[in-house]
Amino acid sequence: MQTRTATDTAWFTDARLGLFVHWGIYSLAARHEWVMTREKITNEDYRPYFDHFDPDLYDPRQWARDARAAGMQYAVITTKHHDGFCLFDSALTDYKATNTPGGRDLIRPFVEACRAEGLRVGFYYSLIDWHHPEFPVDGHHPRRDDLPFREAEAGRDMAKYRAYLHGQVRELLTNYGQIDVLWLDFSYSWRDWGWSKGKGADDWGAHELLEMVRDLQPNVLVNNRSEVRQDFFTPEQYQPRAWMHVDGAPVMWEACQTLNGSWGYDRDNLDWKSPGMLIRMLVDGVSKGGNLLLNVGPTARGEFDPRARATLAAVGSWMHHHARAVRGCTQAPADLPAPPDCRYTWNPKTGRLYVHLFAWPFRHLFLDGLAGKVAYAQFLHDGSEVRLGEYEDAGHYPTVRADAAVLAIPVQPPVGVEVPVLEVFLRG
Ligand code: GLC
Repeated sequence: MQTRTATDTAWFTDARLGLFVHWGIYSLAARHEWVMTREKITNEDYRPYFDHFDPDLYDPRQWARDARAAGMQYAVITTKHHDGFCLFDSALTDYKATNTPGGRDLIRPFVEACRAEGLRVGFYYSLIDWHHPEFPVDGHHPRRDDLPFREAEAGRDMAKYRAYLHGQVRELLTNYGQIDVLWLDFSYSWRDWGWSKGKGADDWGAHELLEMVRDLQPNVLVNNRSEVRQDFFTPEQYQPRAWMHVDGAPVMWEACQTLNGSWGYDRDNLDWKSPGMLIRMLVDGVSKGGNLLLNVGPTARGEFDPRARATLAAVGSWMHHHARAVRGCTQAPADLPAPPDCRYTWNPKTGRLYVHLFAWPFRHLFLDGLAGKVAYAQFLHDGSEVRLGEYEDAGHYPTVRADAAVLAIPVQPPVGVEVPVLEVFLRG
């Protein structure tokens, strides 16, 4: 069965950078959002996190401001993660933020804050559920090794869980106005980019689910993880080597990356990526036609912790000067190979080419195929001219392609620019 897909996708590929937020009662454990199943915690033993969830410092307007200042144009939040806890006021469960000391729907103010700050809004929703009494005790379930429990629970009814799942997605797409992204997660076979072939798609009733989604919100962009092919693909914690192709055709894709390897707040984790690395990941993705969804795991009290804020601020300071080499940009034409240690991004509307310098060149930068075609070039951070240069040995010991444009690069890289970028204006 062919499922409908969204038609308005331009805003998404134009934005290129979004915020992912993983927040839930696992933020109290502060040791990864999978803590429940990694440590095989029962519902009873997980309960203290529910009973103590009181995000008194939650200020989604501040989150949205931080995201915007980082150059992000959309934000996707976990409405329910695998542990089954809902940040939204679902009529279908008691296991929700309204019943914690926090005492309210935490999704509604998030949606309002995003809209107020001009961000598009996305909902992450976990297809699997370790709390729901009808969700099977499968190989990822926290109780998987508890044989008597598994035996006692062998009669769990996926059809009942499926009705719950469909009902909650209906609530999410009915009660919060226009939703721009629906980020369904955890399909068993998404790593093969498969759809409609895993048992998951049948378990979720994915085709019916997506029919409902399209009826409720025709323009919402949906990822591929329900195992039914939808609008975009989601490589997780790695950078594709090239523009992602499925069945021989390029697809819309969005890499999701953590700041430190964990999606949920992970207090003692020291594996933080540097701002420079994250900016290079963003650029690398755009140079291959993809987006970056960069994650923050807020604390139990409802804040982005100082490390996350500092990282977002650093990304934002780069984006302040370089957004135009990212937004509305994509992979450069195939006959223009980027120089070593560089990435090209290209704006098809303006025809400008952006050269992102991942390492500082040795005085000359060779742009193959562009001899005679560079009308003007400048650094993007300060708008200072970069002139065409002479490469003195070219005549004697030619090692450079005759069709290369040569740019004269100063000895010193600019101070405080994580990834310097040249903006190249090409002749008509
Ligand atoms: C994974 C994980 C999860 C995280 C997500 C983000 O499938 O199960 O914890 O939410 O991907 O991409």
